[in-house]
Amino acid sequence: MRWFAWLIIITYLLGARHVMATSDASLRSLADARDKLVGTAVNTTALTNDARYRDFLAREFSSVTPENVMKWQLVEPEQGTPDYTSGDQLVAFARANNQAVRGHTLVWHNQLPEWLTSGGFTSSQLTDMLHAHITDEVSHFAGEISAWDVVNEPFNDDGTWRNSIWYQAMGPDYVALALQWAYDADPAARLYVNDYNTEPLGAKSDAMYALASDLVARGVPLNGVGFQAHLGLQSRFPDTLTPNLQRFADLGLDVAITEADIRMPLPADSDKYVQQAGYFQRLLQSCLVVERCVSFTVWGFDDTHSWVPGAFPGQGAATLLDAAFDPKPAYFALRDALAAGSATAK
Ligand code: XIL
Repeated sequence: MRWFAWLIIITYLLGARHVMATSDASLRSLADARDKLVGTAVNTTALTNDARYRDFLAREFSSVTPENVMKWQLVEPEQGTPDYTSGDQLVAFARANNQAVRGHTLVWHNQLPEWLTSGGFTSSQLTDMLHAHITDEVSHFAGEISAWDVVNEPFNDDGTWRNSIWYQAMGPDYVALALQWAYDADPAARLYVNDYNTEPLGAKSDAMYALASDLVARGVPLNGVGFQAHLGLQSRFPDTLTPNLQRFADLGLDVAITEADIRMPLPADSDKYVQQAGYFQRLLQSCLVVERCVSFTVWGFDDTHSWVPGAFPGQGAATLLDAAFDPKPAYFALRDALAAGSATAK
């Protein structure tokens, strides 16, 4: 019966190894096994100054998104002298750590240079300037960027078009033009339209769906749709996220969760942390069950560098690590969701 004893020992050892492998595995190693990217927005000041930040970023994530430094306001504060140095630094870090880079963002109504918004330009001048901006930036980073958020936040919450400077200059066709210009500069990058409050089925996601359907039907180079997922505990979880993602996937598009964070009224407490962990886990599970959901990105991973307290006064604690850099239940919830078989994901 000696073989039987050996079998028990070997089975035990294999089991223990499995438990150890998942309990201290990184998000990125677990996501690799699920064939998904797990990403974060990166604050490039922290990247430069903070070794602990760099180490966590390299260990845990397989994709990075520049939180700010590829936006027009930051690359070209003075007209005519674009400077991609900070973006280049992030690209170099990503290369060294075998991470994908998600470019963010080429066409947006926010964080535009002052000279552009108050220059009194005509529609045709704005069209030419946007074309030149997209061509210059996408060409600069060509070959380094796996996906671009080409157009960001085109819709109002009621599903009408946002009356941005780009919409005013070109009408709704600015989206197709921007995608085509980006494609011409880097045909290998996956090109996205990205928005917030499009997670559930509803007026805003219907508008995005109508846009995506139209672009696909016209053969415009659109590869994916991004869902930011800036959520808060005061609002109910978007229960219809999975069928919503799936209807975009059924158009033949990739989908991605691009900017996940879950804010809460401050002060934080352990009950809120547990609730937050549930929100993060459900978000990720939707991405895991939708095959065309290619990546799950959080908008920063530690509360010290989160945009939330600045943008939503009285709210915060929206990320995976607290201000002491300790992982919250949300971090472990993401790890558990990635480690669990897809059969357990709902
Ligand atoms: C935010 C950054 O996190 C802040 O640092 C900056 O001051 C403003 O922009 N949707 C987006 C992101 O697509 O680019 C925004 O990032 C957050 C909302």
